[in-house]
Amino acid sequence: MVSEEQVLQALKSVMDPELGKDIVSLGMIKDLEVKDGVVSFVLELTTPACPLRSVLEKNAREVVEKLNGVKEVKIKISSRVLSYPSEKSLPGVKNIIAIASGKGGVGKSTVAVNLTLALASKKASVGLLDADIYGPTIPKMLDIIRPPFYVGGDRVEPALSYMGVKVMSIGLFTSEDTPVIWRGPLVGKAIEEMLKQADWGDIDYLIVDLPPGTGDASLSLAQAIPLTGVVIVTTPQDAALRIALKALRMFQKLNVEIIGVIENMSYLICPNCGSRLEVFGSGNVYKTCIELDIPYLGEIPLAPEVRESGDLGRPVIIREPESPASKAFIEIAEKVAGRVSVLARRKSEQTEKKSEESR
Ligand SMILES: Nc1ncnc2c1ncn2[C@@H]1O[C@H](COP(=O)(O)OP(=O)(O)O)[C@@H](O)[C@H]1O
Ligand SMILES: [Mg+2]
Repeated sequence: MVSEEQVLQALKSVMDPELGKDIVSLGMIKDLEVKDGVVSFVLELTTPACPLRSVLEKNAREVVEKLNGVKEVKIKISSRVLSYPSEKSLPGVKNIIAIASGKGGVGKSTVAVNLTLALASKKASVGLLDADIYGPTIPKMLDIIRPPFYVGGDRVEPALSYMGVKVMSIGLFTSEDTPVIWRGPLVGKAIEEMLKQADWGDIDYLIVDLPPGTGDASLSLAQAIPLTGVVIVTTPQDAALRIALKALRMFQKLNVEIIGVIENMSYLICPNCGSRLEVFGSGNVYKTCIELDIPYLGEIPLAPEVRESGDLGRPVIIREPESPASKAFIEIAEKVAGRVSVLARRKSEQTEKKSEESR
């Protein structure tokens, strides 16, 4: 008869290619039971949006099925998102992911909103902070189902949107006609306060929509809060890419990890002939990522339904989940989640090593 040790030994041959270790050493096998040739266990992934979910399950099943005496393999999939360890971390918030761009108007907020919802659609708990103090567009792009409210003292319960997504934006607290006239340093403070006053609860990912460029707000935020990493959004246009690279270098200087680059408005599908039009040129973003050894996370088409959905407050992921743009957002969200797992684990290992050395 097959034993638990034999099953674990077999499972040790299954690698998580992203984390670079086998799934047993990574602690992903839980509640293993072997009874009369029936093997059951839980495969605990590091994110519910795991891009490798089906590959890992298939490989685990195959190696166990091959063992002598195994009649049946029952695998349950669960997930537990790794926290990015930091002394300054926000209670309950496991990972903070900033979305940045060089130029405005490249679709940073659109990407932030749709990535947030894509992760939530995979059952991750997600929050969204609109850090674009001067041009907060999130409340317009994303329907608010319940507004934020104060819960005693200066604590704030964030607004709620689709799929339990928690939202904070200065636009939810000021009226549309009141211009925000804070000066640079105050902007950074305002964002930090909004971030810290909110009762986010337990969330896996907090997405932060930064203002465009390399201004004070992005700078002070990157220094004040422990970001797992930053996602850079650009269009294929040379001018946009050049400024995006400037932002990218700023984050690298601040020791913020680059999660990767998203190419938005990448191409247009001609509604008449179905052919692919590369309106802003093609290939440059990918090439640049390879040259700089930075992950290229994927491309999102320029599509009327993306803009229309944004204008209506029902993002394309919700309104037209089967559209090519939505599929692209889901695929990219999985890549982001995968990269975040890698970065959080790497940081945990570094932190452990440091504390061992100091002991
Ligand atoms: N992939 C896309 N296809 C079509 N329209 C888009 C796309 N991405 C963004 N837009 C539109 O472009 C405009 C600018 O996008 P926005 O997300 O507000 O940019 P940013 O936050 O970078 O300033 C919005 O009207 C938005 O709906
Ligand atoms: Mg914006």
